Amino acid sequence: MWITAQQTSRAQRKDRYLPEATKHPARMLPAIAAHAIGRYTNPGDIVVDPMCGIGTSLVEAAYLDRRGVGVELEPAWADIARANLAHATTHGATGSGQVYTGDATMLTDLVPAELFGQASLVVTSPPYGPGVHGQVDAQPGAGVHKRHDRYSDNRDLAHAGWQGLTEGFRQILAGCAVLLKPGGYVAVTARPWRQPRRPALCGRGKRDRGWARAG
Ligand SMILES: C[S@@+](CC[C@H](N)C(=O)[O-])C[C@H]1O[C@@H](n2cnc3c(N)ncnc32)[C@H](O)[C@@H]1O
Repeated sequence: MWITAQQTSRAQRKDRYLPEATKHPARMLPAIAAHAIGRYTNPGDIVVDPMCGIGTSLVEAAYLDRRGVGVELEPAWADIARANLAHATTHGATGSGQVYTGDATMLTDLVPAELFGQASLVVTSPPYGPGVHGQVDAQPGAGVHKRHDRYSDNRDLAHAGWQGLTEGFRQILAGCAVLLKPGGYVAVTARPWRQPRRPALCGRGKRDRGWARAG
């Protein structure tokens, strides 16, 4: 068990990330990235995130004196990732980070060949499909509304359908395998997912708990 949510996301990011980072709809909790990096790599090691968003994994790698390499499809998020890295450098981070803009299903075409076989860790949070993508506003009486649930690029895996998402992720992991050195690690974050019209596997309601026991 990784103890990574003792502080809210906002508290974890305070002064460490630029305010515009909050625009991204599906950021990784910084402590998750930091834990994976601290556990599976050493200072100076290379950490790869093929879908780096606003650069959480790269920023945490830089604060831990590692070398981050990220790829992000959306130029707007890639720009924020670079700005977050520059911010980290001016706030004491001793490592470094490089962000490449492009489609990570072609990872080995995007990053320099000298990185092949060099990475100690791949840590990433892939899109989880449209059903769990985006931020949600719920107001009493006004219902539930989603926002920031679409990206601009139609190669974005969040809206590629389940088959497109799994096939795209397979291609991305195949590229990651080329970058990893022997004995390297892959950490992929997952999110609770509820099959449509089914109660959650575990939850606070009595009915949910009963279903989880029976199921
Ligand atoms: C769950 S978010 C990752 C957020 C990131 N961990 C962070 O903390 O900012 C998934 C990211 O994958 C990117 N993405 C989707 N399809 C991609 C692709 N084919 N190649 C590269 N990035 C992609 C999206 O633009 C999005 O920023």
